Amino acid sequence: MAARLWCVVPAAGRGTRVGGPLPKQYLPVAGRPLIEHTLERLAAHPSIAGLMVVVAEGDDIWPTLAVPTAKPVLIAVGGAERCDSVLAGLHALPDDVGDEDFVLVHDAARPCVRAADIANLIERAGAMDGGLLGAPLRDTLKRADERQCSQATEPRDRRWRAFTPQMFRREQLVAALRAAAAAGVTVSDEAMAMERMGFAPLLVEGAEDNIKVTTATDFALAEFLLDRIHSKDALA
Ligand code: C5P
Repeated sequence: MAARLWCVVPAAGRGTRVGGPLPKQYLPVAGRPLIEHTLERLAAHPSIAGLMVVVAEGDDIWPTLAVPTAKPVLIAVGGAERCDSVLAGLHALPDDVGDEDFVLVHDAARPCVRAADIANLIERAGAMDGGLLGAPLRDTLKRADERQCSQATEPRDRRWRAFTPQMFRREQLVAALRAAAAAGVTVSDEAMAMERMGFAPLLVEGAEDNIKVTTATDFALAEFLLDRIHSKDALA
């Protein structure tokens, strides 16, 4: 497989679940917009050739950011759902990214991903039909009823939490995302689209501090983790 891969970074969410007027990828963490940390980490990775950042239509914050210059950074305009944004990013990749080439997809909202986990994913999933970082479920899982009372305890065996990056061949992923859209299915990650096509993406265990920053608590945790990265490079 190619030694260096492009990474699509969906950043077109308008979600302001943490409150405030800004989409979460632009909220400050450790003194900088969240997405700047994510892009810097990705651009610093030796196996990543370039970044395709997918922003929302009319996004006027993106041009104000400090974008890494070590690698090419291109932008595309995203869609209503994350899967629409990823598809737009895949279409906009440079022509020298072949149909058979693997492509990474990594959420802008996951700034703490470790370089070693990206390398492990590329090596292991690249030997198969692709895969994703994740971690086995460790908590007991409950199914709630409409009153938010626990109705049942779900089996925990073989249940994983799915993270990003996820890595698949460009053409196969485009076909899978298109097929899901045509069937009216909103897939919540790339692996779900691939599963629908009969693939079995490899689950590669990664560090659980690769959090998707969503809540106020996540912001505090990300700040702690990023400070640690910067002071000791402990997560590299
Ligand atoms: O909303 P959620 O946390 O699942 O979003 C995950 C990532 O997908 C975020 O980086 C967000 O900006 C991105 N996204 C997108 N286009 C959308 C919705 C979300 O690129 N329509």
